[in-house]
Amino acid sequence: MAEKLTIDNISTFCKSKGFIYPSSEIYGGMSGFFDYGPLGAELKNNIKQAWWKFHVQDREDIVGIDASIIMHPNVWKASGHVANFEDILVECTKCKERYRADHLIEEALKIQADGLKADDIQKLIEQNKIKCPKCKSALDKPGAFNLMFQTYVGPKQSKESIAYLRPETAQAMFVDFKQVVETARLKLPFGIAQVGRAFRNEISPRNFLFRCREFEQMEIEYFIHPGSWEECPYVDEIMDHEIFVYSAEMQQKKEKGKKMKMKEALSDGIIKSPWHAYWLATEHKWFVNLGANPNNFRVRQHLPDEKAHYSKDCWDLEYNFPFGFKELQGISDRGDYDLQQHIKHSKKDLSLFDEETKKKIVPHVVAEPSQGVDRAFLVFLFDAYNDDKERGNIVLKLNPRIAPVKVGFFPLMNKLDKEAREIYNCLRKLFVCQYDKSGSIGRRYARADEIGIPYCVTVDFDTKEKKEVTIRDRDSTKQIRVQVSELKNVLYRLIVGEVEFEKAGKLIK
Ligand code: GLY
Repeated sequence: MAEKLTIDNISTFCKSKGFIYPSSEIYGGMSGFFDYGPLGAELKNNIKQAWWKFHVQDREDIVGIDASIIMHPNVWKASGHVANFEDILVECTKCKERYRADHLIEEALKIQADGLKADDIQKLIEQNKIKCPKCKSALDKPGAFNLMFQTYVGPKQSKESIAYLRPETAQAMFVDFKQVVETARLKLPFGIAQVGRAFRNEISPRNFLFRCREFEQMEIEYFIHPGSWEECPYVDEIMDHEIFVYSAEMQQKKEKGKKMKMKEALSDGIIKSPWHAYWLATEHKWFVNLGANPNNFRVRQHLPDEKAHYSKDCWDLEYNFPFGFKELQGISDRGDYDLQQHIKHSKKDLSLFDEETKKKIVPHVVAEPSQGVDRAFLVFLFDAYNDDKERGNIVLKLNPRIAPVKVGFFPLMNKLDKEAREIYNCLRKLFVCQYDKSGSIGRRYARADEIGIPYCVTVDFDTKEKKEVTIRDRDSTKQIRVQVSELKNVLYRLIVGEVEFEKAGKLIK
């Protein structure tokens, strides 16, 4: 990450290049809502597709669903969201500004306040004489604020027609559990995945895409046999994977975290479950394989007060944002909480038959890798953003697999427009391409660098004669010559990372 890059720099950059705009800006915008512009929509779709491929299509043990956003209201009673999905709010007695209480405490006292109860917050406000940051008046007593967006279904706006925009995609994996298991003929251990919108009426949305009121999640519920907590068949894949670990004990003892291999974290009992270790490492690898800097991440265990109402143990994969290490992904052990709740509330049998013991079992969710698409989007942008002083422009070093535009096509001179367009028209059926004939070649390369186009193809006079084009690599600025007949193949292999740039054609010295 470039030094001193702030969230405001990234948000300004995103707006100026057409990645993200504030929602409904011509009407003054809406706090916590954003629109993805042409480049942002491509990048976001690529992130979601890469996630789906890695977590669902490339695996035999995970299947995907795409459920409705509005579910039966009893889903949220059963899940505990109606009763418990709340933040503590505090209001100014004079200007009536409302604050998320833990954020207010964190800013005033520079301590971690996530998970503090209303009474503890009240005490801290009194002891430290914390006032309204806006008008400096006294603050009222803190109270709970439910984060779900409520709506009505159908023409009657009555108590009976109340429904909620889902605050997480996860519940559909529990509610549809039996049907998915039966139709996909799943055998434990297995996962059910979903990518989709979720909504939370955040008290104070902030930090650009980091905390929004409408966002997208990529979630997996990973189910195991209740007695097989220790048996993760994939754990050997991640034993040598290294990551910065910060356990609850280290936090309580005010120790620093430690970079360690997963096998060390497991053998020292820091991470207790091999499944947790497996999913933490796997999720870290997913980011790194798509170009994120491995050293900007850590895994942090939730403190006992911090855990969600359904969670037995929870580790977050965190990223070092300019505003501190923050959660990218919560990987929670939900046990059988959700299935049992839905069995109780729906009175339906959601158990599975165990062939070995010939008994019914209710599977446990040993891990719930749950992450926000928008936060992943920010991570990839932060780690890709380079203010290249030598070139005099921003170079967005996005991994080619997620880059919104894969190839730029430039005719060297306007005279070559016909030849260049012919090649471009052929290639754009395969990759997202951009055609640019305006300005000097240097200016065109700079524009391409700024939006992260990994490869630019220049059509010159030799294209006619020798049937060759030049490909320029965004990150190194090196150039190779390749035959037009080979171009499709070479670009494909470069984009998926099958070949090194210098070996993909004749290197121009
Ligand atoms: N399903 C977990 C979450 O939404 O945070």
